[in-house]
Amino acid sequence: MRTGALVIIAISKEVVKGEKRVSITPDIAEKFVKSGYSVWVEQGAGDLAGYPDELYSTSGAILIQDRKKLFSECDLLLGIHTPPKEDLLFLKKGAALFCFLWPLQHPGTVDLLKNQGITAVSMDAVPRISRAQSMDALSSMSNISGYKAALIGAMELDRYLPMMMTAAGTIRPAKVLVLGAGVAGLQAIATAKRLGAVVESYDVRPAVKEQVESLGATFIDIPIDDTDTETKGGYAKEVSEETKKKQVEVLHSHVQKSDVVITTALIPGKKAPVLITKTMVGDMKPGSVVVDIAAEQGGNCELTKAGETVFHNGVKVVGPVNLPSTVAQHASQMYAKNMHTLLSLYLKEGSFVVNVSDQIVHESTITHAGELLSPLVKKDPSS
Ligand code: NAI
Repeated sequence: MRTGALVIIAISKEVVKGEKRVSITPDIAEKFVKSGYSVWVEQGAGDLAGYPDELYSTSGAILIQDRKKLFSECDLLLGIHTPPKEDLLFLKKGAALFCFLWPLQHPGTVDLLKNQGITAVSMDAVPRISRAQSMDALSSMSNISGYKAALIGAMELDRYLPMMMTAAGTIRPAKVLVLGAGVAGLQAIATAKRLGAVVESYDVRPAVKEQVESLGATFIDIPIDDTDTETKGGYAKEVSEETKKKQVEVLHSHVQKSDVVITTALIPGKKAPVLITKTMVGDMKPGSVVVDIAAEQGGNCELTKAGETVFHNGVKVVGPVNLPSTVAQHASQMYAKNMHTLLSLYLKEGSFVVNVSDQIVHESTITHAGELLSPLVKKDPSS
């Protein structure tokens, strides 16, 4: 790793199909340049997010056409998705990669990066602690997903969301049910409320009740026998078969009377829990909509197909994928800010330093100097 002005920070173009975001925006590129780093941007990297090449040039970054040169000569490679293996192989020993790695889901990539001597930092491994809030890309992206899910619900519905008192009669407000009230769910609630819907919500973690109510929504209480539904990190745990049955039973009538159901329930490292059965969808009013943003993790609805809209008895079940990319400009802006703040822990006076005594660095760094560092991956029984 070079030091000082010689450290090359590279921003590659995302190659995942449908991805419009860019990891670093021109304003953040300028901050790196002003701090003395050399910033290389792959030509066209920001085009689809509304950040054309000229903005990067103006910020002092150097545009690079040759992707192989970018990968093989950089010291730090910044991205959103993990680049394809053929590109990773060009990274030199001692270089660092920052992106969403999802290390538990991609042990082969982790091995490759470890063996290649790459420092791999995973944006999804940043701990959910107060000090890391401004680095938490999972939260910024979930926030966008929740917002967009509510808009999709409103767009796909053949009814108004707000109450309307018009000369042509009074329209009752739509009922929106949000299942899973984490970051995305809470934003979906807030957005649906702003659009005038009557909102109710359910989450398996009882701590969420107060947050749901503070947004003006009603919390659905489902008395369950499981007493321990939350991990130390604030994530949900998988519930017992009995609880699953009870959830489906109670939620049935709520789903039935909803115009829009937005589902966001996830359990880290597991398939998304099924909260809505085919029968429940069949009992909804024709024209109603289910927006299942857990689609990529298997879906919260039995009928969900990721990236598709399924019709069942006149009800639409929408399974959107990569919602943050549909708000590419702001998603890139937020991601770049998260990345810049996280990098401030690694870039010290022109040098790249991995200070494992810092909890955020320790938990976010997956591989370093040929070793597996991540406590998360180390404790995973499947790794
Ligand atoms: P997530 O995306 O993993 O899950 C979404 C929601 O689904 C969660 O609220 C979860 O409880 C819920 N869920 C899972 N199984 C369910 C089931 N069977 N039925 C109903 N709901 C179910 O969660 P997210 O949004 O990533 O947030 C996880 C936690 O992290 C939350 O407690 C959040 O407040 C916390 N957090 C803390 C931060 C900080 O302190 N810096 C920043 C962001 C999040």
